[in-house]
Amino acid sequence: MPTKLVLGLQHGDEGKGRVVDDISVDWADVVVRFQGGGNAGHTVYDEEGKKHVTHILPVGVIISNELNTLKKYKYNEVKRHITNIIARGCVLNVLDLYNEIKDLDLDITTNDLQISGYCPLIEPTHILLDRLKYQGKLGTTARGIGPAYSDFYARDAILFKDLVYNPEEVLYRIQEKFFNFQTEIAQSNVEGEVINENFDYFNSWTKNYREVVDCVSKFLMEDESIIIDLYNEGKNILLEGAQGCGLNIHSNNYPDVTSSAPTVGGALNSTGLNHNQIDEVIGVIKAYKTKVGTGIFPSRCDEENASILAKIGNEYGATTGRPRKCGWLDLDEVNQAIKMNGVDHLCLIKTDVFCNIEKPFIYHDSELNEISKVNHVSLEDKSFIELLEIIKTKTGIKKVSFTTGPKRGEIVWSEM
Ligand code: IMP
Repeated sequence: MPTKLVLGLQHGDEGKGRVVDDISVDWADVVVRFQGGGNAGHTVYDEEGKKHVTHILPVGVIISNELNTLKKYKYNEVKRHITNIIARGCVLNVLDLYNEIKDLDLDITTNDLQISGYCPLIEPTHILLDRLKYQGKLGTTARGIGPAYSDFYARDAILFKDLVYNPEEVLYRIQEKFFNFQTEIAQSNVEGEVINENFDYFNSWTKNYREVVDCVSKFLMEDESIIIDLYNEGKNILLEGAQGCGLNIHSNNYPDVTSSAPTVGGALNSTGLNHNQIDEVIGVIKAYKTKVGTGIFPSRCDEENASILAKIGNEYGATTGRPRKCGWLDLDEVNQAIKMNGVDHLCLIKTDVFCNIEKPFIYHDSELNEISKVNHVSLEDKSFIELLEIIKTKTGIKKVSFTTGPKRGEIVWSEM
């Protein structure tokens, strides 16, 4: 009954999606997204090299679609199926989910995807509030994440099961809340452009409402104990974190954080599994660091190196398209995340991008330390071995896997 948990140990955008995809290919029976919402953007390449970006859907939908459609697929000999779950700790914008399913152009059946009825809905009012109040102040993704979690913790949220069982009543509540909020802000000095744009969004939400409800309702999880049941049946369960530990709401980075817990603790709350039922925690780190939004960034690097990393690493948000700020790998922050989450195994991403830096640094013990230029991502290369040794020594984690490129399968898994 093994359970693996994939977490980002930096500020998100570490490349968790492709790690989850790679593990899903021949290991996972179940893939569970356990926190956050459409603020995430997980990029994966399928067997034919086609790029897909998921936001709220677990990354396992890509491989489960390939398994279902039996596309000249090398794993066909083994008849496998993957159940993807959006667990109760996630916030759900049903219009975005509907569009994501359409945009991915995948054949997703109720056998492939189940959504907890206890996921709080992200409503048009939450998106407007996020845009007006938090996008400028905190650099949020403006996906309504914070306001939706606020309503949830105030116990005012509309849940996914409410939408499925009472769609007309839910529509009425959503409309009423939106109009009340409009009236409230009309009396303040709010920019008209934001309000107008959001009114258009609200209209698209309500215009497509019935079609959206029809599409998403069928995915309602009938039994909230499904994850535990699958665990007890001996299935391989893969928990997919979004964002990163530096964005954990329960951290000293508050308020420059997201509104959920992208941690082992967050995963336990959302899935109902207990700490003894997590067998391996895999922490994903990039060979450098990127960040969007506000907050401290002690390892931020100079313009010249930042622009090399940004350009070669294509460091633009998969959800918002915003350029990411670049810096050196901060092992102090990684160590904090390792301790807090009991990380067993590291996966180092994008060292091929880092190889383009002539005079590289790593940040640890509160200072910048110059290291040798890394030439090739290969266990035959002395400079790469040196980098791995620094990471192993400074973190105390001996099991370090690494990617050699962005495509599926370009991961060298540590044998240890
Ligand atoms: P929110 O999650 O949209 O409320 O944004 C809060 C903070 O988390 C902002 O600094 C965002 O840029 C950051 N953030 C949220 N999701 C992601 C992500 O998937 N990758 C990187 N940063 C993120």
